[in-house]
Amino acid sequence: MHWSTLILAFAAAPTSALIRFQCSQLVRERLDPLVNPGLIPSPHVHQIVGGNSFNATMDPKTKDIPGESTCTTCQFAEDFSNYWTAILYFKARNGTYKRVPQLANAGFEGAKGGGMTVYYMQDPLYDTKQLSSVKAFQPGFRMFVGDINARNKAQAARFRQLTYTCMDNAGTRDKETVAFPARPCKYGIMTSLRFPTCWNGVDLDSPDHMSHMAYPESGTFESGGPCPSTHPVRVSQVMYEVIWDTSKFNDPAEWPADGSQPFVWSFGDGTGYGNHGDYVFGWKGDSLQKILDTKCYVNCEGAKLQSIEEMNKCSGSVPEAVVEDIDGWLDVLPGGHVANYS
Ligand SMILES: *[C@@H]1O[C@H](CO)[C@@H](O)[C@H](O)[C@H]1NC(C)=O
Ligand SMILES: *[C@@H]1O[C@H](CO)[C@@H](O)[C@H](O)[C@H]1NC(C)=O
Repeated sequence: MHWSTLILAFAAAPTSALIRFQCSQLVRERLDPLVNPGLIPSPHVHQIVGGNSFNATMDPKTKDIPGESTCTTCQFAEDFSNYWTAILYFKARNGTYKRVPQLANAGFEGAKGGGMTVYYMQDPLYDTKQLSSVKAFQPGFRMFVGDINARNKAQAARFRQLTYTCMDNAGTRDKETVAFPARPCKYGIMTSLRFPTCWNGVDLDSPDHMSHMAYPESGTFESGGPCPSTHPVRVSQVMYEVIWDTSKFNDPAEWPADGSQPFVWSFGDGTGYGNHGDYVFGWKGDSLQKILDTKCYVNCEGAKLQSIEEMNKCSGSVPEAVVEDIDGWLDVLPGGHVANYS
């Protein structure tokens, strides 16, 4: 075999991992240990997945997330991290709000409460080779992406990849928008949240939970752009996909009379530009590093995986800290928010 053919033969196989897995819902309530630690209730409702040591405090100095968790709602049995986002409401023409249920991604049907799909990728999503190899996050690491106060395109522009996909069926992936889709989406709305991939190499967190992280200084993660000198350490891209089952809310008679879209985040954003996500690292020992160093693309054998049934058993295993109605037809959103557009 000619040497160049040999290299090509090797190059075709992944050299490190891209993992993609589902997590069932852990709990859905007004808690936010990253932005509002200790506050019960926090300002708006979240849906949270992952390890069941999750609580309102999560003090990084004293908390041993993998040690204190007895189960996780995620498929990787050693991933006790917590991943969370706001939740979506439908605002009916009579002004009342109803929570939009979630759906699991295709292939993960049955995940309780829909939950979310989580990715860790070292190169872009559709690059099956995953030639890069990055260092895993360290215990105590956490980050936030997005701006809950953003209500227009300019305000949302500093975040590169927080999007919506209007899904006509379970497989729709095309045409991502930064605002809520303007038309009814037959199957649902997918939220895709991609975290920045350049770390300052020092801080596990920062006061705004963002400034220890940055985007590549030129190009993008997808184009292999270099990290800035202030944030020289390239990490894996963490991405969430959450599917909102809007199919039951597509009656035009219930949409605003002017034809505008009726969906609202739990913090009142009716534009979609306030899209945001929270991440608290909690993989056991070096299990994330081990799996990232495995040569695999999506189907990663070897790591301890649990079935959807086992994940679901962990769902709801966290005692409810905030007891309130988040599911009825509500006059105001939990926490007193109302839909706002600027
Ligand atoms: C959260 O868990 C920690 C143990 O890790 C505990 O010390 C703390 O009191 C708990 N916080 C709440 C609000 O329950
Ligand atoms: C508002 O509209 C929704 C959807 O049609 C309906 O289910 C709900 O009962 C209405 N609420 C009030 C107070 O009219």
